[in-house]
Amino acid sequence: MQHNKVLILDFGSQYTQLIARRVRELNIYSEIRPYNKLPDNIDSYKAVVLSGSPISVRSEDALHPDLSEIRGKIPLLAVCYGAQYLAHFSGGEVAESSTREYGRANLTYIKEGEDFFENIHEGSQVWMSHSDTIRALPEGGKLLASTEDVENAAFKIEGEPTYAIQFHPEVYHSTDGHQLLHNFLIKIAGVNQDWTPQSFVEETVENLQEKLGNDRVVLGLSGGVDSSVAAMLLHKAIGKNLFCIFVNNGLLRKNEFEDVLHQYEGMGLNVKGIDASARFLDALAGKSDPEEKRKIIGRVFIEVFDDEAHRIKNVKWLAQGTIYPDVIESVSATGGPSATIKSHHNVGGLPDFMKLKVVEPLKSLFKDEVRRVGASMNMDSQLLGRHPFPGPGLAIRILGDLTREKVRILQEVDAIFINNLKSWNLYDKVWQAGAMLLPVNSVGVMGDERTYEKCVALRAVESTDGMTADWVNLPYEFLQKTSNEIINKVKGVNRVVYDISSKPPATIEWE
Ligand code: XMP
Repeated sequence: MQHNKVLILDFGSQYTQLIARRVRELNIYSEIRPYNKLPDNIDSYKAVVLSGSPISVRSEDALHPDLSEIRGKIPLLAVCYGAQYLAHFSGGEVAESSTREYGRANLTYIKEGEDFFENIHEGSQVWMSHSDTIRALPEGGKLLASTEDVENAAFKIEGEPTYAIQFHPEVYHSTDGHQLLHNFLIKIAGVNQDWTPQSFVEETVENLQEKLGNDRVVLGLSGGVDSSVAAMLLHKAIGKNLFCIFVNNGLLRKNEFEDVLHQYEGMGLNVKGIDASARFLDALAGKSDPEEKRKIIGRVFIEVFDDEAHRIKNVKWLAQGTIYPDVIESVSATGGPSATIKSHHNVGGLPDFMKLKVVEPLKSLFKDEVRRVGASMNMDSQLLGRHPFPGPGLAIRILGDLTREKVRILQEVDAIFINNLKSWNLYDKVWQAGAMLLPVNSVGVMGDERTYEKCVALRAVESTDGMTADWVNLPYEFLQKTSNEIINKVKGVNRVVYDISSKPPATIEWE
């Protein structure tokens, strides 16, 4: 079955992925393509959205693709740069703004009777982020809405299904953004809302069956959401021909290996747990450079995984939990044609090394969709709601050199922190949390004795994709109780600090 599809042309805006996600939230399938790489089968798309851009249409290197195959033929929504593009190159006028147009604004005028603004009323808040403004509408342009500072905040082209808005409906601060996308895509463009987690599961299982036939597939489970959901889909499709390997690198959270392995078995997966802790920890002994630690862990993982995979006879495929943000071709911030593809840093090198064909059932999904797909297969909500955890695990949270004793200390600290987040109902409000073991000893006093022991830092962040993050304002009572419990229960730690740095300029992990 062919889904109705929406094409999003990326001009390099920081919000392009958000547009795709908002469209998907309407149960409509969307794809992002660089502005200068139109797909061949353009008429298979029911609507097109032009994204914003950091570049000015007035600059010499303005991005100016030929849209003649789209304009007037397919319903088009032009956002921010897209709107300015329509104005500037079609007889309108774009100039530098005289006032700063960044942040919240309100619609002070909306033309009545337009489907585009159905159920949206004057006063509606919108999010602006631009330094150019549209002074004169292009040929055929008809004004649809204004704000106090931006007269031409929305317009359409008469006689064409072409709409343009200066503001960003994809940003949550545009309170009626969802409604506006709904109006454009469903009312105006007539797109079907046929993209649901259930339909995704049904089609993917069918496609996997067709693609894999009776072949054997190997997949590395990590305990995380992506690999677990990928495994469930493959399990549904090919059952016992899926061979899962779950490696304990000795750097997982406390009891995680046993707990998660047990959970996987309960899900009916054909999974083999390999305890390779000693191999990893021996290889890491005395190493303190973060990148060197990462490399060693990556190398040993490949060795262990490859050994195990070779024990399974006639394996043809390697399955991976790659998701859409890992494969979107991104337009560089300067808008140049040099598109880059991000690599999947968890398992870099594995496919080439193993010489297997690769199958990636989640390649078209965003993270939140992966969770919804998992939920529609009745997977455990705790497994689906797990915080992200880095592939190199606690190795990059133990600053400096690594010993078994340090791993033990950090596992204890981390377990107290995470369990307390759960019992205070804070776990689901935090995007990622963990503890760092610092390479400093500090003086303390316990009973009548002077101590000289380790210091740990707790970190909890809010984020949507890990690219930017804010520290979480955890309640003081929570921090107080957690700090007491750590110092009282974990031998070797006498000081706890809380990390209040945002990303950027800090990063989430300390190494
Ligand atoms: P940073 O520290 O770069 O982290 O702000 C962003 C997100 O990436 C995770 N992270 C990693 N994940 N291998 C991984 O699989 C790594 O080497 C790695 N380094 C950081 C980090 O936990 C956060 O979710």
